[in-house]
Amino acid sequence: MELKGLILSGGTGSRLRPITHTSAKQLVPVANKPVLYYGIEALRNAGISDIGIVVGETAPEIEAAVGDGSNWDVNITYIPQEAPLGLAHAVLTAEDFLGDSSFVMYLGDNLLRDGIEELVESFVSNSPDALILLQEVPNPESYGVAECEGSEVRRLVEKPKDPRSNLALVGIYMFTPEIFQCAREIKPSARGELEITDAIQCLIDQGRRVESHVVQGWWKDTGKLEDMLEANRLILDALEGDIRGKVESSEIHGRVVIEDGARVSDCTIRGPVIIGENAYVHDSYIGPYTSIYYDSEVGNSEIEHSIILEQSKVIDLRGRMEGSLIGKNVQIIRLEQRPRAYRFMVGDNSWIGII
Ligand code: G1P
Repeated sequence: MELKGLILSGGTGSRLRPITHTSAKQLVPVANKPVLYYGIEALRNAGISDIGIVVGETAPEIEAAVGDGSNWDVNITYIPQEAPLGLAHAVLTAEDFLGDSSFVMYLGDNLLRDGIEELVESFVSNSPDALILLQEVPNPESYGVAECEGSEVRRLVEKPKDPRSNLALVGIYMFTPEIFQCAREIKPSARGELEITDAIQCLIDQGRRVESHVVQGWWKDTGKLEDMLEANRLILDALEGDIRGKVESSEIHGRVVIEDGARVSDCTIRGPVIIGENAYVHDSYIGPYTSIYYDSEVGNSEIEHSIILEQSKVIDLRGRMEGSLIGKNVQIIRLEQRPRAYRFMVGDNSWIGII
């Protein structure tokens, strides 16, 4: 049975503003690679080569980044969703593309350490009507929550106030075409969306077999700043050092990647750290769990546990920066002009902590 892949890459990314005012949340880099690419790789590694990507307002940017899929040896079809009306609505939007194939649906902002190869195999060999992935979380009220008997799912509720278990729905699902009928039957939730959680509950109500698998390796939904930084930390934890750029008068400790064309001079770098192509880092301390994307510059500053996007500058910071996400084309610089004052040009929903 040839499975198709469906990656959802629409949504407004409201919890990652201001970054998402100008770019798609699925393209924010984790360890210098857009989150979305990890999903494409997970599908490809599970043998899925026909992949639909549901896109919304940020379609041009997603298409420019991913192209036709040839970089991954897969075929990509873009499926426009006219408005972010929910995950089940996205499935219905993709009905023509999916046809009568079973498919893996992958939320484009989710990251799963161990991939999905074995899960796809188990879905194909056990042939349930749906297979969902679950993980125990401390805050189930922020997710879809499942109640199970063994591996069979009995009940699913989207973001319940009083969760009856701590098993959250991971944003990766496997479906047979039975899901379409249910996606058509359900009504919008309180947040006005057709919830995939409700569509799966509908399968259960109709007596269909919905299986679950509790994921042991880490899983992250990167929709918020803390989760994004945590995902960056987890991916960097498995980083292998590789110095391809130029290093001058610097101390490099631990696992550090310095990409092609990057220059590091007069620095102490304590890995795991990744420094992107053509970045310039000088007279600085770069501490663990920091990703600096391409064409950025860091000078005379100390940075730790942070993500800096492309073409940004951080120069002459007096205190150490940590736990930060800096967008693209941002400049944080020291000014010598009088009067000596803070000068900001900061977008909506930005957040600045000073010392
Ligand atoms: C969505 C689903 C939720 C699931 C989560 C996983 O939530 O509705 O059931 O647990 O993804 O990432 P959302 O990100 O839309 O709030």
